[in-house]
Amino acid sequence: MKFQTVNGFKDILPDEALRWQQLEQTARSIFRRFGLREIRLPLLEPTGLFARSIGEGTDIVDKEMYTFADKGLTLRPEATASIARAYVEHGLHVQQPVQRLFTIGPMFRHERPQKGRLRQFHQIDAEIIGAAEPAADAELMAMAQLLLDELGLKASLEINSIGCPQCRPGFRAQLVQYVQERSGSLCEDCQRRCGSNPLRVLDCKNRSCKETVQNAPSILDSLCDDCAAHFAAVRRGLDDLGVRYSLNRFMVRGLDYYVRTTFEFTTTELGAQSAVGGGGRYDCLIEELGGPKNTPGLGFGLGMERLVLLLEQRGEEFKTAVPRADLYAAALGGQAAEFALPLVHAVRRLGFAAAIEHGSRSLKAQMKQADRVKARFTLIIGEQELERREAMLRNMDSQEQSAFSLQGTAAELAERLGKVIAGVTGNTANENIP
Ligand code: HAM
Repeated sequence: MKFQTVNGFKDILPDEALRWQQLEQTARSIFRRFGLREIRLPLLEPTGLFARSIGEGTDIVDKEMYTFADKGLTLRPEATASIARAYVEHGLHVQQPVQRLFTIGPMFRHERPQKGRLRQFHQIDAEIIGAAEPAADAELMAMAQLLLDELGLKASLEINSIGCPQCRPGFRAQLVQYVQERSGSLCEDCQRRCGSNPLRVLDCKNRSCKETVQNAPSILDSLCDDCAAHFAAVRRGLDDLGVRYSLNRFMVRGLDYYVRTTFEFTTTELGAQSAVGGGGRYDCLIEELGGPKNTPGLGFGLGMERLVLLLEQRGEEFKTAVPRADLYAAALGGQAAEFALPLVHAVRRLGFAAAIEHGSRSLKAQMKQADRVKARFTLIIGEQELERREAMLRNMDSQEQSAFSLQGTAAELAERLGKVIAGVTGNTANENIP
Protein backbone atom coordinates (compact mmCIF):
# COMPACT_ATOMS: atom_id res chain seq x y z
CA MET A 1 0.00 0.00 0.00
CA LYS A 2 1.48 3.35 -1.09
CA PHE A 3 0.40 6.67 0.28
CA GLN A 4 0.77 10.13 -1.19
CA THR A 5 0.59 13.67 0.12
CA VAL A 6 -2.92 15.10 0.27
CA ASN A 7 -3.89 17.51 -2.52
CA GLY A 8 -2.72 21.01 -1.64
CA PHE A 9 -0.19 19.72 0.91
CA LYS A 10 3.48 19.44 0.07
CA ASP A 11 6.68 17.82 1.27
CA ILE A 12 9.66 20.11 1.52
CA LEU A 13 12.60 17.87 0.67
CA PRO A 14 16.12 18.51 2.06
CA ASP A 15 17.49 20.43 -0.97
CA GLU A 16 14.50 22.74 -0.99
CA ALA A 17 14.61 23.02 2.80
CA LEU A 18 17.93 24.84 2.40
CA ARG A 19 16.08 27.71 0.77
CA TRP A 20 13.55 27.69 3.56
CA GLN A 21 16.31 27.85 6.14
CA GLN A 22 17.89 30.76 4.33
CA LEU A 23 14.55 32.53 4.27
CA GLU A 24 13.98 31.93 7.97
CA GLN A 25 17.49 33.01 8.90
CA THR A 26 17.11 36.26 7.00
CA ALA A 27 13.74 36.90 8.64
CA ARG A 28 15.12 36.16 12.10
CA SER A 29 18.07 38.46 11.48
CA ILE A 30 15.74 41.29 10.45
CA PHE A 31 13.41 40.73 13.40
CA ARG A 32 16.34 40.78 15.82
CA ARG A 33 17.41 44.14 14.43
CA PHE A 34 13.88 45.52 14.81
CA GLY A 35 13.43 44.13 18.32
CA LEU A 36 10.73 41.55 17.56
CA ARG A 37 10.59 38.49 19.77
CA GLU A 38 9.44 35.06 18.70
CA ILE A 39 6.12 33.65 19.85
CA ARG A 40 5.18 30.03 19.12
CA LEU A 41 1.52 29.15 19.03
CA PRO A 42 -0.71 26.09 18.67
CA LEU A 43 -1.99 25.21 15.20
CA LEU A 44 -5.43 24.45 16.60
CA GLU A 45 -7.65 27.15 18.07
CA PRO A 46 -11.34 27.53 18.99
CA THR A 47 -13.30 28.09 15.76
CA GLY A 48 -14.98 31.14 17.32
CA LEU A 49 -11.62 32.95 17.51
CA PHE A 50 -11.38 33.08 13.72
CA ALA A 51 -15.10 33.65 13.13
CA ARG A 52 -14.89 36.63 15.47
CA SER A 53 -11.64 38.18 14.28
CA ILE A 54 -11.33 37.39 10.56
CA GLY A 55 -15.10 37.70 10.38
CA GLU A 56 -18.20 35.75 9.34
CA GLY A 57 -18.89 36.50 5.70
CA THR A 58 -15.23 36.42 4.66
CA ASP A 59 -14.07 33.73 2.23
CA ILE A 60 -11.61 32.41 4.79
CA VAL A 61 -14.21 31.82 7.49
CA ASP A 62 -17.13 30.85 5.26
CA LYS A 63 -15.37 28.56 2.82
CA GLU A 64 -11.77 27.81 3.64
CA MET A 65 -11.35 26.72 7.22
CA TYR A 66 -10.38 23.21 8.27
CA THR A 67 -12.80 22.82 11.12
CA PHE A 68 -13.44 19.85 13.38
CA ALA A 69 -17.11 20.70 13.68
CA ASP A 70 -17.82 18.27 16.52
CA LYS A 71 -14.97 19.68 18.60
CA GLY A 72 -15.44 23.38 17.82
CA LEU A 73 -11.80 23.60 16.77
CA THR A 74 -10.10 24.90 13.61
CA LEU A 75 -6.62 24.63 12.14
CA ARG A 76 -5.41 28.21 12.04
CA PRO A 77 -5.86 29.89 8.65
CA GLU A 78 -3.59 32.76 9.72
CA ALA A 79 -1.61 33.85 12.78
CA THR A 80 -2.83 37.31 13.76
CA ALA A 81 -5.93 36.06 15.58
CA SER A 82 -3.85 33.55 17.54
CA ILE A 83 -1.27 36.17 18.49
CA ALA A 84 -4.04 38.52 19.61
CA ARG A 85 -5.59 35.68 21.63
CA ALA A 86 -2.24 34.94 23.29
CA TYR A 87 -1.67 38.66 24.02
CA VAL A 88 -5.01 38.82 25.80
CA GLU A 89 -4.83 35.40 27.47
CA HIS A 90 -1.41 36.02 29.02
CA GLY A 91 -1.89 39.72 29.70
CA LEU A 92 1.28 40.49 27.75
CA HIS A 93 0.53 44.22 27.98
CA VAL A 94 1.29 44.10 31.70
CA GLN A 95 4.91 43.10 31.02
CA GLN A 96 5.36 45.60 28.27
CA PRO A 97 2.54 47.62 26.66
CA VAL A 98 4.08 47.54 23.20
CA GLN A 99 4.72 43.97 22.14
CA ARG A 100 6.78 43.35 19.01
CA LEU A 101 6.29 39.74 18.04
CA PHE A 102 6.89 37.34 15.19
CA THR A 103 6.01 33.77 14.38
CA ILE A 104 6.89 31.49 11.50
CA GLY A 105 4.86 28.42 10.63
CA PRO A 106 2.10 26.62 8.74
CA MET A 107 -1.41 27.93 8.10
CA PHE A 108 -4.34 26.03 6.59
CA ARG A 109 -6.91 27.21 4.06
CA HIS A 110 -9.07 24.99 1.89
CA GLU A 111 -8.50 26.86 -1.37
CA ARG A 112 -8.15 25.49 -4.90
CA PRO A 113 -4.46 24.51 -5.11
CA GLN A 114 -2.33 26.02 -7.86
CA LYS A 115 1.16 27.44 -8.30
CA GLY A 116 1.86 29.51 -5.20
CA ARG A 117 -1.39 28.47 -3.54
CA LEU A 118 -1.54 25.55 -1.16
CA ARG A 119 -3.90 24.27 1.48
CA GLN A 120 -1.11 24.04 3.99
CA PHE A 121 1.13 27.03 3.42
CA HIS A 122 3.58 28.91 5.61
CA GLN A 123 3.84 32.48 6.72
CA ILE A 124 6.43 34.72 8.26
CA ASP A 125 4.19 36.82 10.46
CA ALA A 126 5.14 40.00 12.33
CA GLU A 127 2.96 42.02 14.69
CA ILE A 128 3.36 45.19 16.73
CA ILE A 129 0.65 45.37 19.35
CA GLY A 130 0.10 48.53 21.39
CA ALA A 131 1.43 51.13 18.95
CA ALA A 132 -1.09 53.61 17.54
CA GLU A 133 1.33 56.02 15.90
CA PRO A 134 1.57 56.21 12.11
CA ALA A 135 5.35 55.93 12.50
CA ALA A 136 4.79 52.30 13.52
CA ASP A 137 2.99 51.62 10.22
CA ALA A 138 5.88 53.09 8.28
CA GLU A 139 8.46 51.22 10.36
CA LEU A 140 6.60 47.92 9.88
CA MET A 141 6.39 48.30 6.11
CA ALA A 142 10.03 49.38 5.97
CA MET A 143 10.92 46.23 7.89
CA ALA A 144 9.07 44.00 5.39
CA GLN A 145 10.71 45.88 2.54
CA LEU A 146 14.16 45.39 4.07
CA LEU A 147 13.50 41.68 4.42
CA LEU A 148 12.59 41.43 0.74
CA ASP A 149 15.63 43.54 -0.18
CA GLU A 150 17.99 41.32 1.79
CA LEU A 151 16.52 38.28 0.07
CA GLY A 152 17.24 40.01 -3.22
CA LEU A 153 13.55 39.93 -4.19
CA LYS A 154 11.63 42.65 -5.96
CA ALA A 155 8.02 43.33 -5.03
CA SER A 156 5.88 46.44 -5.25
CA LEU A 157 4.29 47.86 -2.15
CA GLU A 158 0.69 49.03 -2.49
CA ILE A 159 -1.05 50.81 0.33
CA ASN A 160 -4.53 52.01 1.15
CA SER A 161 -6.56 53.17 4.11
CA ILE A 162 -9.92 51.53 4.70
CA GLY A 163 -11.01 53.92 7.44
CA CYS A 164 -12.39 53.08 10.85
CA PRO A 165 -15.77 52.22 12.42
CA GLN A 166 -16.59 55.96 12.36
CA CYS A 167 -16.03 56.66 8.67
CA ARG A 168 -16.36 53.29 6.99
CA PRO A 169 -20.16 52.83 7.35
CA GLY A 170 -20.76 56.04 5.36
CA PHE A 171 -18.47 54.82 2.60
CA ARG A 172 -20.02 51.36 2.72
CA ALA A 173 -23.47 52.84 2.13
CA GLN A 174 -22.24 54.82 -0.88
CA LEU A 175 -20.52 51.75 -2.26
CA VAL A 176 -23.54 49.48 -1.76
CA GLN A 177 -25.66 51.92 -3.72
CA TYR A 178 -23.07 52.11 -6.49
CA VAL A 179 -22.61 48.35 -6.87
CA GLN A 180 -26.28 47.49 -6.48
CA GLU A 181 -27.12 49.80 -9.37
CA ARG A 182 -24.63 47.79 -11.45
CA SER A 183 -25.11 44.33 -9.96
CA GLY A 184 -25.94 42.89 -13.40
CA SER A 185 -22.32 43.23 -14.45
CA LEU A 186 -20.88 41.63 -11.30
CA CYS A 187 -19.81 38.01 -10.90
CA GLU A 188 -21.98 35.68 -8.82
CA ASP A 189 -19.71 35.96 -5.79
CA CYS A 190 -19.84 39.75 -5.91
CA GLN A 191 -23.62 39.82 -6.32
CA ARG A 192 -23.74 37.92 -3.03
CA ARG A 193 -21.06 40.18 -1.50
CA CYS A 194 -23.06 43.35 -2.32
CA GLY A 195 -25.14 42.71 0.76
CA SER A 196 -22.71 40.93 3.09
CA ASN A 197 -19.26 42.32 2.33
CA PRO A 198 -19.50 45.03 -0.34
CA LEU A 199 -15.90 46.22 0.13
CA ARG A 200 -14.66 42.90 -1.25
CA VAL A 201 -16.27 43.75 -4.59
CA LEU A 202 -13.53 46.37 -4.93
CA ASP A 203 -10.70 43.84 -5.11
CA CYS A 204 -12.47 41.07 -7.03
CA LYS A 205 -10.16 39.66 -9.72
CA ASN A 206 -13.02 39.12 -12.18
CA ARG A 207 -12.53 41.36 -15.20
CA SER A 208 -16.10 42.59 -15.43
CA CYS A 209 -16.17 43.40 -11.71
CA LYS A 210 -12.88 45.26 -12.07
CA GLU A 211 -14.31 47.37 -14.88
CA THR A 212 -17.51 47.97 -12.95
CA VAL A 213 -15.75 49.37 -9.89
CA GLN A 214 -13.33 51.57 -11.84
CA ASN A 215 -15.51 54.61 -11.18
CA ALA A 216 -16.79 53.56 -7.78
CA PRO A 217 -16.45 56.09 -4.96
CA SER A 218 -13.01 56.03 -3.34
CA ILE A 219 -12.68 55.23 0.32
CA LEU A 220 -9.85 57.75 0.48
CA ASP A 221 -12.41 60.51 -0.13
CA SER A 222 -14.53 59.29 2.79
CA LEU A 223 -11.94 59.06 5.54
CA CYS A 224 -12.70 60.95 8.77
CA ASP A 225 -10.19 63.62 9.79
CA ASP A 226 -8.30 61.31 12.14
CA CYS A 227 -7.97 58.53 9.59
CA ALA A 228 -6.95 60.98 6.88
CA ALA A 229 -4.30 62.54 9.14
CA HIS A 230 -3.03 59.08 10.11
CA PHE A 231 -2.76 58.00 6.49
CA ALA A 232 -0.98 61.19 5.48
CA ALA A 233 1.53 60.66 8.30
CA VAL A 234 2.08 57.03 7.26
CA ARG A 235 2.87 58.20 3.74
CA ARG A 236 5.30 60.82 5.02
CA GLY A 237 6.92 58.18 7.22
CA LEU A 238 7.41 55.86 4.25
CA ASP A 239 8.94 58.72 2.27
CA ASP A 240 11.29 59.52 5.16
CA LEU A 241 12.42 55.90 5.32
CA GLY A 242 12.94 55.75 1.57
CA VAL A 243 10.25 53.09 1.03
CA ARG A 244 8.60 53.33 -2.37
CA TYR A 245 4.91 52.57 -2.62
CA SER A 246 1.87 53.22 -4.73
CA LEU A 247 -1.70 53.94 -3.66
CA ASN A 248 -4.28 51.29 -4.43
CA ARG A 249 -7.72 52.48 -3.42
CA PHE A 250 -9.22 49.14 -4.47
CA MET A 251 -7.20 47.10 -2.00
CA VAL A 252 -9.42 46.12 0.93
CA ARG A 253 -7.91 42.77 2.01
CA GLY A 254 -9.93 39.69 2.86
CA LEU A 255 -10.00 39.89 6.63
CA ASP A 256 -12.50 41.92 8.63
CA TYR A 257 -10.26 43.02 11.48
CA TYR A 258 -8.45 45.69 9.48
CA VAL A 259 -8.92 49.39 10.05
CA ARG A 260 -7.02 52.29 8.55
CA THR A 261 -3.77 51.22 6.87
CA THR A 262 -3.77 48.13 4.68
CA PHE A 263 -0.94 47.08 2.40
CA GLU A 264 0.28 44.38 0.09
CA PHE A 265 3.55 43.44 -1.54
CA THR A 266 2.90 42.16 -5.04
CA THR A 267 4.97 40.67 -7.82
CA THR A 268 4.34 40.09 -11.50
CA GLU A 269 6.58 37.00 -11.48
CA LEU A 270 4.22 34.44 -9.99
CA GLY A 271 1.28 34.44 -12.36
CA ALA A 272 -2.11 34.62 -10.71
CA GLN A 273 -0.82 34.52 -7.13
CA SER A 274 0.67 37.99 -7.14
CA ALA A 275 0.56 38.79 -3.41
CA VAL A 276 3.74 37.81 -1.61
CA GLY A 277 2.54 39.39 1.58
CA GLY A 278 0.01 41.68 3.14
CA GLY A 279 -1.02 43.29 6.33
CA GLY A 280 -2.44 46.30 8.05
CA ARG A 281 -3.83 47.75 11.26
CA TYR A 282 -6.34 46.07 13.52
CA ASP A 283 -6.94 48.66 16.23
CA CYS A 284 -10.23 47.13 17.48
CA LEU A 285 -9.26 43.45 17.52
CA ILE A 286 -7.61 43.15 20.93
CA GLU A 287 -10.54 44.83 22.66
CA GLU A 288 -13.01 42.67 20.73
CA LEU A 289 -11.24 39.58 22.00
CA GLY A 290 -11.66 40.76 25.59
CA GLY A 291 -8.31 42.52 25.94
CA PRO A 292 -7.61 45.99 27.30
CA LYS A 293 -9.60 48.82 25.72
CA ASN A 294 -8.07 50.83 22.91
CA THR A 295 -5.16 48.52 22.24
CA PRO A 296 -4.09 49.13 18.66
CA GLY A 297 -2.14 46.65 16.59
CA LEU A 298 -0.66 46.15 13.18
CA GLY A 299 1.26 43.48 11.34
CA PHE A 300 1.92 41.56 8.16
CA GLY A 301 2.15 38.02 6.88
CA LEU A 302 4.51 36.99 4.08
CA GLY A 303 3.74 33.81 2.12
CA MET A 304 6.82 31.60 2.36
CA GLU A 305 5.96 29.31 -0.58
CA ARG A 306 5.73 32.39 -2.79
CA LEU A 307 9.02 33.79 -1.51
CA VAL A 308 10.68 30.40 -2.09
CA LEU A 309 9.30 30.28 -5.65
CA LEU A 310 10.74 33.74 -6.28
CA LEU A 311 14.09 32.70 -4.81
CA GLU A 312 14.06 29.60 -7.00
CA GLN A 313 13.33 31.64 -10.11
CA ARG A 314 16.24 33.87 -9.18
CA GLY A 315 18.51 30.83 -9.21
CA GLU A 316 21.99 29.73 -8.38
CA GLU A 317 23.10 31.45 -5.23
CA PHE A 318 21.17 29.02 -3.04
CA LYS A 319 22.60 25.91 -4.60
CA THR A 320 25.93 26.70 -2.99
CA ALA A 321 24.40 26.71 0.44
CA VAL A 322 24.80 22.92 0.89
CA PRO A 323 26.53 22.60 4.26
CA ARG A 324 29.99 21.00 4.29
CA ALA A 325 31.21 18.25 6.57
CA ASP A 326 34.47 19.21 8.29
CA LEU A 327 35.59 15.61 8.44
CA TYR A 328 34.71 12.33 6.77
CA ALA A 329 36.06 9.22 8.46
CA ALA A 330 36.66 6.42 5.97
CA ALA A 331 37.08 3.20 7.91
CA LEU A 332 38.11 0.02 6.15
CA GLY A 333 37.13 -3.10 8.03
CA GLY A 334 35.30 -3.88 11.22
CA GLN A 335 38.03 -2.94 13.69
CA ALA A 336 38.75 0.36 11.95
CA ALA A 337 35.04 1.16 12.04
CA GLU A 338 34.90 0.39 15.76
CA PHE A 339 37.82 2.73 16.29
CA ALA A 340 36.45 5.48 14.03
CA LEU A 341 32.96 5.94 15.47
CA PRO A 342 34.07 7.12 18.97
CA LEU A 343 36.58 9.42 17.28
CA VAL A 344 33.88 10.93 15.04
CA HIS A 345 31.67 11.34 18.09
CA ALA A 346 34.43 13.22 19.91
CA VAL A 347 34.93 15.50 16.88
CA ARG A 348 31.22 16.21 16.79
CA ARG A 349 31.27 16.89 20.50
CA LEU A 350 33.74 19.68 19.79
CA GLY A 351 31.24 21.28 17.45
CA PHE A 352 32.53 20.15 14.06
CA ALA A 353 30.43 18.38 11.43
CA ALA A 354 31.78 14.87 10.97
CA ALA A 355 30.43 12.09 8.74
CA ILE A 356 30.90 8.36 8.84
CA GLU A 357 29.09 5.45 7.25
CA HIS A 358 28.15 2.21 8.83
CA GLY A 359 28.72 -1.09 7.11
CA SER A 360 31.79 -2.16 5.21
CA ARG A 361 32.04 -0.23 1.96
CA SER A 362 35.01 0.02 -0.37
CA LEU A 363 37.43 2.91 -0.07
CA LYS A 364 36.24 4.14 -3.46
CA ALA A 365 32.61 4.19 -2.35
CA GLN A 366 33.54 5.98 0.84
CA MET A 367 35.61 8.60 -0.99
CA LYS A 368 32.63 9.22 -3.25
CA GLN A 369 30.50 9.79 -0.18
CA ALA A 370 33.15 12.14 1.23
CA ASP A 371 32.77 14.19 -1.96
CA ARG A 372 29.00 14.10 -1.66
CA VAL A 373 29.08 15.60 1.84
CA LYS A 374 31.73 18.08 0.60
CA ALA A 375 34.14 17.00 3.33
CA ARG A 376 37.03 19.37 3.99
CA PHE A 377 39.17 16.52 5.34
CA THR A 378 39.01 12.77 5.05
CA LEU A 379 40.66 10.55 7.62
CA ILE A 380 41.40 7.15 6.10
CA ILE A 381 41.77 4.37 8.62
CA GLY A 382 42.62 0.87 7.33
CA GLU A 383 43.34 -2.30 9.32
CA GLN A 384 47.09 -1.98 8.83
CA GLU A 385 47.09 1.73 9.61
CA LEU A 386 45.24 0.92 12.79
CA GLU A 387 47.89 -1.59 13.81
CA ARG A 388 50.57 1.01 13.18
CA ARG A 389 48.41 3.61 14.95
CA GLU A 390 48.75 5.99 12.03
CA ALA A 391 46.04 7.04 9.60
CA MET A 392 46.07 9.17 6.47
CA LEU A 393 44.55 12.65 6.62
CA ARG A 394 43.61 14.16 3.27
CA ASN A 395 42.77 17.78 2.66
CA MET A 396 40.01 17.33 0.10
CA ASP A 397 40.37 20.82 -1.38
CA SER A 398 44.15 20.79 -1.90
CA GLN A 399 44.41 16.98 -2.16
CA GLU A 400 47.45 17.15 0.16
CA GLN A 401 47.89 14.10 2.34
CA SER A 402 49.78 13.61 5.57
CA ALA A 403 50.15 10.94 8.21
CA PHE A 404 47.97 11.41 11.27
CA SER A 405 49.01 9.68 14.48
CA LEU A 406 46.29 7.66 16.17
CA GLN A 407 48.11 7.61 19.51
CA GLY A 408 45.96 8.89 22.37
CA THR A 409 42.34 8.84 23.47
CA ALA A 410 39.47 9.67 21.12
CA ALA A 411 39.14 13.05 22.83
CA GLU A 412 42.83 13.81 22.34
CA LEU A 413 42.71 12.79 18.69
CA ALA A 414 39.61 14.89 18.17
CA GLU A 415 41.36 17.85 19.74
CA ARG A 416 44.25 17.51 17.29
CA LEU A 417 41.92 17.03 14.32
CA GLY A 418 39.96 20.06 15.46
CA LYS A 419 43.10 22.19 15.33
CA VAL A 420 43.82 21.07 11.77
CA ILE A 421 40.24 21.79 10.70
CA ALA A 422 40.27 25.15 12.47
CA GLY A 423 43.49 26.00 10.62
CA VAL A 424 41.50 25.74 7.38
CA THR A 425 38.06 27.01 8.33
CA GLY A 426 39.17 29.67 10.79
CA ASN A 427 36.61 28.37 13.31
CA THR A 428 37.89 27.03 16.56
CA ALA A 429 35.93 24.13 17.95
CA ASN A 430 33.99 26.15 20.49
CA GLU A 431 33.01 28.78 17.99
CA ASN A 432 31.32 26.03 16.03
CA ILE A 433 28.84 25.38 18.78
CA PRO A 434 26.00 27.89 18.46
P1 HAM B 1 -3.23 37.25 4.03
O1 HAM B 1 -3.19 38.30 3.00
O2 HAM B 1 -4.45 36.41 4.10
O3 HAM B 1 -2.97 37.97 5.40
O4 HAM B 1 -1.98 36.30 3.86
C1 HAM B 1 -0.67 36.81 3.80
C2 HAM B 1 0.12 36.10 2.72
O5 HAM B 1 0.09 34.70 2.90
C3 HAM B 1 -0.42 36.30 1.31
O6 HAM B 1 0.00 37.53 0.77
C4 HAM B 1 0.20 35.13 0.58
O7 HAM B 1 1.54 35.43 0.20
C5 HAM B 1 0.21 34.06 1.64
N1 HAM B 1 -0.92 33.13 1.42
C6 HAM B 1 -2.20 33.29 1.77
N2 HAM B 1 -2.93 32.23 1.40
C7 HAM B 1 -2.07 31.36 0.81
C8 HAM B 1 -2.20 30.05 0.22
N3 HAM B 1 -3.37 29.41 0.19
N4 HAM B 1 -1.09 29.48 -0.30
C9 HAM B 1 0.10 30.10 -0.26
N5 HAM B 1 0.28 31.32 0.29
C10 HAM B 1 -0.78 31.94 0.81
C11 HAM B 1 -2.95 37.35 6.61
O8 HAM B 1 -2.93 36.15 6.76
C12 HAM B 1 -2.82 38.29 7.78
N6 HAM B 1 -2.84 37.50 9.02
C13 HAM B 1 -1.59 39.16 7.68
C14 HAM B 1 -1.47 40.09 8.83
C15 HAM B 1 -0.66 39.96 9.90
N7 HAM B 1 -2.19 41.18 9.00
C16 HAM B 1 -1.85 41.74 10.14
N8 HAM B 1 -0.95 41.00 10.70
